[in-house]
Order: sequence, then C-alpha cells, then structure tokens
Amino acid sequence: MLVLRPPKGMHDILPTSQPIWDKIRKITKDIADFYRFLRIDTPIVERSDIFEISVGEATDIVEKQMYTFRSGNDRLTLRPENTASIVRAHIQHGLGYQLGYPVKLYYQGPFFRHERSQSGRYRQFHQIGFEILSFENDPVYDAQIIIAGYRILEGLKIKDCIININSIGCKECRPGFIRKLKTYYKDKHRKMCSDCRRRWSSNPLRVFDCKEEKCIVLKKSAPNIIDNLCTDCKKHFQGVLELLEDVAIPYVLAPYLVRGLDYYTKTVFEITTEGFDFSLGGGGRYDDLVKLMGGKETPAVGVALGVERIIEVIMKREIRLTQRPRPRVFLIHIGMAAKHKSLALVEKFRKANIDIIESLGKESLNTQIKAADKAGSPLALILGQKETYEDTIIVRDMKSGAQETVPLAKVISVIKKKS
Ligand code: HAM
Repeated sequence: MLVLRPPKGMHDILPTSQPIWDKIRKITKDIADFYRFLRIDTPIVERSDIFEISVGEATDIVEKQMYTFRSGNDRLTLRPENTASIVRAHIQHGLGYQLGYPVKLYYQGPFFRHERSQSGRYRQFHQIGFEILSFENDPVYDAQIIIAGYRILEGLKIKDCIININSIGCKECRPGFIRKLKTYYKDKHRKMCSDCRRRWSSNPLRVFDCKEEKCIVLKKSAPNIIDNLCTDCKKHFQGVLELLEDVAIPYVLAPYLVRGLDYYTKTVFEITTEGFDFSLGGGGRYDDLVKLMGGKETPAVGVALGVERIIEVIMKREIRLTQRPRPRVFLIHIGMAAKHKSLALVEKFRKANIDIIESLGKESLNTQIKAADKAGSPLALILGQKETYEDTIIVRDMKSGAQETVPLAKVISVIKKKS
C-alpha cells in the first residue's frame, strides 16, 4: 500500500496556511531592507565536510542528525543550517570585495535535521537568518543582529520575547575554562548520564545543555564561563549588553547557555517567549569560522529564527495578523456566451489592477451567488444572457441589494467610482 503522507517530521504547507507564511516572508524582507541586509540563497545540498568542519564533528547535528548521501564521488548533505554555507559562499565569491564590509546578508528557506520527533522539532523546518561579516568584532554588530531577529518577532506581534545571552569566550580564555570544567566533573562521573560522560571528553561545554535531572543538579555548582572570561571578552560582552539596554531589548544573563554548534566565540544567545519550552531563535558570534574554512580572519555574528516555531506561537496565542483583503468584485455569469465574455472581462480588471474573483467553473446561478456571499465582496457583477446580448452588465451592491445595469465598456470606470 502507498503511504500517503510525507516522511516523519516533514509537513505540507497547505494553501490555508500560506497567508501566514507570506506575512512572515514579507516582514522579514521589510526588516532586512530597512537594516540593509542583502538576500542570499545557497544550495539546499552542500558537500558534507562544509558542515563537519564548521558545526563540529562532536555535535549532535553532525553525529546524529545530518541527511548525508553519496552522489558519484561526492559525499553530500541536506543543509542542517546555513551559517556554514554563507561562510563558504563569502570566501568563494569574495563577498567582502564585491559588497564592501560589513557584509550584511539574510536568507530564508528549508533546513533538514534528523531529530527525534517532538513538539517544535521537525526534520524539515524553515529558518530566517541574518549574518554580518566584518573587519572588527565590534559589539554593535552583535546588537544589530539581535535587534533584527527581535524586530521580526515583534512585527509578528509575539510580545514578551527575551534574549537569553551569554559569552563563551575566545580561543584565549576558553581552554582555561574547559580545564576548570573538566576538573569539576572529574570525580562526578558516576553522577552524570552516559551522554555527558562522553561529552566530558569530546566536547565538555555541551554538558551544560543536558536535560537529564541529575546533570542539571550537577550544573548548579559548576564553574560558569562569564566568571572566567579574559579582559577582552568581558569588555566585548559588556558592550553588547549596554547596546541592548540602549534600545530596550530585554535580556537575561544565561551563564550556562552553550549552543549546539561548535563555531561560536564570545556572544551566544537564544530567544524565548513565555509558555513555550523551545527557543524561537538562536545565534552568536563566530570570529574564527571564516579562517577555519580557508578564508582571511573575518569576525562575524548571526542569528536564525525557526519559522514553524514562530507559527506555533502565533496559532496558540491566536494572534491575528492582517489577512488578504477581500476581493472588491465578484463576477457571476449565466450561460456559455456570458462565460466567454467573462474570461475577457477578468483580463480587463487585471489590467486595471482591480481585484476580482470569478467562478467560471460553476454554472448554477445559486451556487455562484452562495460563492459570492462566502467571498464577502461588496460588489457583484452579473452577466446574464440578456446582458451578454445587449453588451451590458448588472452591478449589484451586495449589502443593500441595490443594482443597476451599465454598458459593459464602462464597467471598469463604474467600479472605480464605487470603491
Ligand atoms: P540553531 O539554534 O540550531 O542555530 O537554530 C536556530 C533556530 O532554528 C532555533 O532556535 C529554532 O527556532 C529553529 N530550529 C532548529 N532546529 C529545528 C527543528 N528541528 N525544528 C524546528 N525548528 C528548528 C542555527 O541554525 C545557527 N545557524 C544560527 C546562527 C546563525 N548562528 C549564527 N548565525
């Protein structure tokens, strides 16, 4: 038997849901245009090592979640995220020379992670992302990235978003902190879950991300990174927080926040909202990634928001976003000759840029009137047999029921006057 559903964790986006997707795309474009981010689209498939090197071999994404396959001699992966691809494109095309620094890019599109299915976690999901690649690791870029993500959520009427923010240091101060962390956990192995015992040696910072109760208890007395930052990282972090205060973006310090991707340095953050146990977005600074992937040292910072999660919040909170306006005119036809004239009439309305809705596939007058009522257009045009013969058309006010017959050649100007 044919299984008539998409693969687990993947979904159709049906016509009824498209208006909300359109709205999110539009707000993203408006925000990106205002802050001068330029759109970039990268392929949905990349060579696997692009993600292995950047996201990190010892991360859940690379270890467990990538859709990887062979094609000829290439090992390819459905992109699990976009920062790696952006950096690849930046180096390959010399975007700094082409566009000038800072390079400010944005994107939206589908991403793929083979995650365990649970609320807010899909195997195909969509992200909106912003990245700034610059000469300097100026805190103002961190703030601008957070502002862009925050403004999109605000534009979608998701109020009360909070930026949970931390700094995970740089290659100068992080090794010292990791040594401290390893020492702290060294004699606690028996109290840790098996995953964290493994993380302790392969990727120690990730123990902070564990959801197991016993690991959460251990974390409470663990050393935190903020207390162990070098002077430069401390100053940078302070700078970011002050800038967020200047624009009244609410944040909370999250000294144990680490992210599931290895490329971060200094600032990391996640955006949450009351009543949902997932983050709507996340990001941070990745000052070493461009160099790691073969380019010149280029500090950078970015954010990505999860569209399905945003929509879940909008639906659960019953947030009303403006809907497509009702079409101004509904066209009803009676008989074959009227149908022929109607098709041409629709084209005249398109040229005049007047929204019109027809039901040319329906013949019964009753069905068409019902459809007109449902569409809620204030005006109906009725092209009956008599009118078709006389080159006229009936214009009916749907609310009052008043109607008049006008010459077909004048119908556009009559409608324009009425609206
Ligand atoms: P991320 O935290 O892995 O970061 O993903 C960003 C957002 O994408 C999450 O906060 C969430 O809303 C959404 N998301 C991630 N995985 C899923 C999933 N399985 N199902 C539904 N939504 C999901 C990144 O991807 C980084 N590239 C962000 C970044 C940009 N850092 C710097 N620049």
